[in-house]
Amino acid sequence: MSILLNQSFIPYELGEINPNTTVLEWLRSNRLVGTKEGCASGDCGACTAVIGELVTVNKKDVIQYKSINTCIALAYTLLGKHLITVEGLKEGDDLHPVQKAMVTENGSQCGFCTPGFVMSLFAMYHNEKVIDLTKINDALSGNLCRCTGYKPIISAAYLALSEKEKGSQDFYERHQAKFVESLVKLRNEKDVSLSYAKDQKTLLFDAPSNIHKLSQLLSDNPSANILAAGTDLNLEITQSMKEFPHIVSVNRVTELKQIVDNGSEIEIGAAVSYEEAKSILVKHWPNLNSFLQRFASLPIKNWATIGGNIANASPIGDMAPVLIALESKLKLRKGDSSRVIALEDFFISYKKTLLESSEFIESILIPKPSSDDQLITHKISKRYEDDISAVCMAVNVKSDKSKPCSVKIGMGGMSGIPQRAIELEKALLDNWNSEELKSVAYEALSKEFSPFTDVRASSEYRLRVSAGLAQKTSLIMQGYSVEDLAHYSEH
Ligand SMILES: Cc1cc2nc3c(=O)[nH]c(=O)nc-3n(C[C@H](O)[C@H](O)[C@H](O)COP(=O)(O)OP(=O)(O)OC[C@H]3O[C@@H](n4cnc5c(N)ncnc54)[C@H](O)[C@@H]3O)c2cc1C
Ligand code: FES
Ligand code: FES
Repeated sequence: MSILLNQSFIPYELGEINPNTTVLEWLRSNRLVGTKEGCASGDCGACTAVIGELVTVNKKDVIQYKSINTCIALAYTLLGKHLITVEGLKEGDDLHPVQKAMVTENGSQCGFCTPGFVMSLFAMYHNEKVIDLTKINDALSGNLCRCTGYKPIISAAYLALSEKEKGSQDFYERHQAKFVESLVKLRNEKDVSLSYAKDQKTLLFDAPSNIHKLSQLLSDNPSANILAAGTDLNLEITQSMKEFPHIVSVNRVTELKQIVDNGSEIEIGAAVSYEEAKSILVKHWPNLNSFLQRFASLPIKNWATIGGNIANASPIGDMAPVLIALESKLKLRKGDSSRVIALEDFFISYKKTLLESSEFIESILIPKPSSDDQLITHKISKRYEDDISAVCMAVNVKSDKSKPCSVKIGMGGMSGIPQRAIELEKALLDNWNSEELKSVAYEALSKEFSPFTDVRASSEYRLRVSAGLAQKTSLIMQGYSVEDLAHYSEH
């Protein structure tokens, strides 16, 4: 099984490797050491590389480039894709336009972060025709630099794109047709089933191509670990030094990669990434645009799946509160049978869900909103982007003749599970235009939740900030815009 690597059109055989090997480990053990390791947990961006994947646009195969964190992606999950690292940018002695721009604008000092920044800029160079500061910040949201202060790197982003506007094409644009041809051949290699012998053990990796094979595999191997993007799971490899004996990837399962508009609801396959789901989510709930900007970083969103976020059952995961507020359902599958359950019933206790052995999430069903519905979301975290929530609140307001008639609230960070806030719903509905709302909300929250204290926030802070968020919500319900409230304090 092969990948395309950098400027070569000839597929590169990955060979037999331990299925727990990350892309970064694989690169560095193959002397491609431009890609650096900083944190090994997706937080610093030193390991950023770019992958190219085939997508169909107007019935034509084209390559879409996206930045990823190689430190938490497994090498075998790149099978059939094009991996581009910093070594694949220059042509002969000629630097790539983004590299030239970094040199011209003095975007590098000690240089440790530079390959990661260059690769994020390279992905942006391929994906954007016109840029502004928001797009640049988004493209660089996963990269940290401790030397430059970012300004020269931002200038380099503008300079590189201005070169592109003049009509220059880089190696990958000039040879796109040949890369497409090679990737189409790799796409035809359907199911992946690999084994690796280590110390008298056999480590297994399976990546089936359809849902029947996936459910069969999981029924036959109930103790196998399901892998989506691995942005949660693979931290157990890089941070806890765990080795999974059998990994079953859902990455290639066609049915789990689909987004279907069923008329009254949207069905999002469990293996759809945030960036893939973004346009349909934002189309129906425009406010999710700013919320998703606060979710992780672009390389994480390019790769991580919504199904993984829910199955991981973290009490501070961001999608569950939003999807609970939207009254979403989950389609679960085991063998040949499926069941549909309300998402709010899925979480039982800390990291425990209704999923049975061999069962997996097939898709998420989200009812479409009516024209008067309003989704209001809040995320409290220490860092603006690339940080997990201390508290997350999502409020779905339905109105009748401009008056709220139903409120559904999903909350994260307030208990051991993402949870509906039923008492707060009543308090908000009865007091949405009252000055007493904040204290009523605090009382309702204290009745329903005993939040934990941890490094992100104390229990009392979580209660108080949530009451403040309820008040902010009520002001938005009264017609204040988010911009009006930009400097509103939750305390
Ligand atoms: C730097 C960084 C920043 C992050 N920021 C945020 C953030 O802001 N907000 C947030 O909520 N999260 C954040 N995360 C966490 C993570 O990115 C998300 O939870 C992501 O959605 C997980 O999806 P995945 O595809 O990577 O799941 P994986 O890691 O592949 O899987 C997670 C768990 O779900 C199981 N699983 C996966 N798919 C299925 C399925 N279809 N059926 C059953 N079980 C399944 C796996 O076995 C595993 O136990 C961050 C992570 C990192 C590394
Ligand atoms: S090494 Fe820090 S994000 Fe990968
Ligand atoms: S140049 Fe030193 S960390 Fe960025």
